[in-house]
Amino acid sequence: MARLNGLLIALDGPAGTGKTSVGKAVADRLGYGFVSTGEMYRALAYTVFAKHIEPEDHDAVLAAAQGLRFTFARQPDASLKMFVGGEFLGPKLHLEEVGNVASRVSTNREARRVLTEKMREVGQDGGIVMEGRDVGTVVFPDADIKFYLDATAEQRAQRRFLQLKETGQKPDYNKILHSIEERDHRDKTREASPLKPASDAVLIDTSELSLEQVIDTVLEKLPHHAS
Ligand code: DC
Repeated sequence: MARLNGLLIALDGPAGTGKTSVGKAVADRLGYGFVSTGEMYRALAYTVFAKHIEPEDHDAVLAAAQGLRFTFARQPDASLKMFVGGEFLGPKLHLEEVGNVASRVSTNREARRVLTEKMREVGQDGGIVMEGRDVGTVVFPDADIKFYLDATAEQRAQRRFLQLKETGQKPDYNKILHSIEERDHRDKTREASPLKPASDAVLIDTSELSLEQVIDTVLEKLPHHAS
């Protein structure tokens, strides 16, 4: 069934595979909106953190998820700027602690259901590249096309290391690798929507590819009328 604004493209995979850069570039090329579902989990984590809620406190985390009000404003670079309760949280969502709490609150099955509904509202009319962990498996099993990006933990740690170094920080490679392995383990073994490729996803191993090569691979796989 054709969607109103174009395709709904699912882009899943573990952290550090370049999903965000690839997704933004692909969305930009197609004139589509880009949505990061990880940012939505991060918004929940940020709220949980700010309210001093224990990430494992099931009911309090669920209530926090139910209380989140997301609005999205289209930006010139195709991303959809996300506001939470009218506030732009931006870089605060990308703090390391927030990422860790996000991984913990995202094991809450009920809270996932609440956020999944919100994701469906944003994506259902298409014209969207949606990036995450379970977009192709749970949020939109009927996505028009699904991609799953992967890379070795070492490669991903190396990329993160370079990113942090570029921003003037003094990162510790081993710590980064450890944190990536820990997060992968949690994301892949959780009971609710574990991270895994959809059976009909296009798998792309980005370990040996440049960002441009990954973007081209994705664009080549799209149905002709989209690009
Ligand atoms: O992609 P990210 O690092 O911003 O995501 C943060 C956390 O959110 C990640 O550890 C797992 C969780 N997440 C999820 O469970 N499902 C999604 N669709 C996206 C993110």
